[in-house]
Amino acid sequence: MKFQIKNSAIITKQKTECLVISIDSGKSQSDFVKDIDKSTNGLVSELIKSGDISGELGQTTLLYPNSNSLKQKILFVGCGKNKDFDLIQATKVIQAVIKELLAKKIKNITWDLFAFNKVNSLEVAKQLPQIVSDITYRFDEFKTTKTPVPSLTNVTLLIHDKKALSALTDNLLQGQIIANAIATTKTIANMPSNVCNAKYLAEQGKQLGKLHSSLKVTCLGENELAKLNMNAYLAVGRGSQNESIMTVMEYQGAKDKKDQPYVLVGKGLTFDSGGISIKPSAGMDEMKYDMCGAATVYGVMQAVAELKLPINVVGIMAGCENMPDGNSYRPGDILTTMSGTTVEVINTDAEGRLVLCDALTYVERYNPKTVIDIATLTGACIVALGHHYTGVMGNNDKLIAQLIASSNKSGDKAWALPIDSEFQEQIKSTCADIVNAGGRDGGTITAACFLSRFTEKYQWAHLDIAGTAWKSGGQKGATGRPVAMLIQYLQDQ
Ligand code: BES
Ligand code: MN
Ligand code: ZN
Repeated sequence: MKFQIKNSAIITKQKTECLVISIDSGKSQSDFVKDIDKSTNGLVSELIKSGDISGELGQTTLLYPNSNSLKQKILFVGCGKNKDFDLIQATKVIQAVIKELLAKKIKNITWDLFAFNKVNSLEVAKQLPQIVSDITYRFDEFKTTKTPVPSLTNVTLLIHDKKALSALTDNLLQGQIIANAIATTKTIANMPSNVCNAKYLAEQGKQLGKLHSSLKVTCLGENELAKLNMNAYLAVGRGSQNESIMTVMEYQGAKDKKDQPYVLVGKGLTFDSGGISIKPSAGMDEMKYDMCGAATVYGVMQAVAELKLPINVVGIMAGCENMPDGNSYRPGDILTTMSGTTVEVINTDAEGRLVLCDALTYVERYNPKTVIDIATLTGACIVALGHHYTGVMGNNDKLIAQLIASSNKSGDKAWALPIDSEFQEQIKSTCADIVNAGGRDGGTITAACFLSRFTEKYQWAHLDIAGTAWKSGGQKGATGRPVAMLIQYLQDQ
């Protein structure tokens, strides 16, 4: 699909299959609407008056004027009240238009998308490719008959102001890169566990490294992890036939190789059965998504390399599988982590924090500027924030505030939860330094408290994406969140 921006004020002269025109729910309409009204001898204003063309948010009406002065089809879309028009409303309008165009198999359009200048048109330009990609995404690698995906070929956006051209074009391009990164994350995350194991993640990482000279990829297998004393990480994978592999992707975009990097650590449980503390069978299939943190890191690294961001970034995919077996780790085991802190295993299903704690100790060697881990860590996070908000915790208020700001800017919602010292009581152990499960109450926070014991040497934030990384039920599939929010965060650095 091709996105273009054109500087023109005359709507009726545009050679296109279909014009997309914004309608305000109030009395005042744009000059574009007035021009079309003239060309149709007042038909449009009559239809607006009668309510057949509605200004209600997301309402669409397709018109075939077929007159001499106007040959194009026209898709009118309601934009609500001009004064309320923000990025969320713009997103709803774009979704409605794209769905209608795909349903009517219209392929070439010219759009007055920026007619409402109340919203930041740069942000809208960045969102547009992401919205289109989200609607047209399919995961049909394993379907024997693939349903063809309808798609647009040409989207031309009209602007009034020539000065905006280069910035808008740039944002459209960025939006396309972000859209591709999100789609890649979805596809890796959607892969079943019999295909996607830690080795698969490592191979994906290596392939990405081959595409970009700025990206160096190394993989640490079980022997290497053992040499580093990453015993908590290794314990989780012990019951699995698949080797635990930590994939490290180092991107150098800053001129100085020694610039402190931003570090991302993704939980990559390619399947989480719970281990000896086995999960109930209902819904266990969804635990193939327990590697969405790692898939997020992959997508972000792809975008960072394609955007050529002038910073250094290290992305880690902590690949591993949690299975019950004669060789599995057990409840009651005491593990000595890479940092030396000992952990009493209460529940082998609280495995994510065990994998992450060693990976978080490992990254100390980078002298990181900030470290962000991304993990489908706790079911409790779904209870707290539902499927709408990613949970944000950490040891640095400024970093947390920056992440929330990035989430608002990108429309990829996130909400902060507190992790003050009172919660630390819940992870005390009688026979080791800490336990790996702090009970039901505040489960998302006590999991973060556990991680906080391993992140004292740098600025750290933790994103719990248990509720946001995938959808269940009829629409089962990965969402690609929080790729957009993290790219925004890195772009703002
Ligand atoms: N991967 C799960 C968390 C999860 C569960 C995410 C359901 C999304 C949907 C994690 O490894 C886990 O099992 N956590 C336990 C922790 C508990 C044993 C302290 C949980 O949330 O029940
Ligand atoms: Mn688990
Ligand atoms: Zn898990």
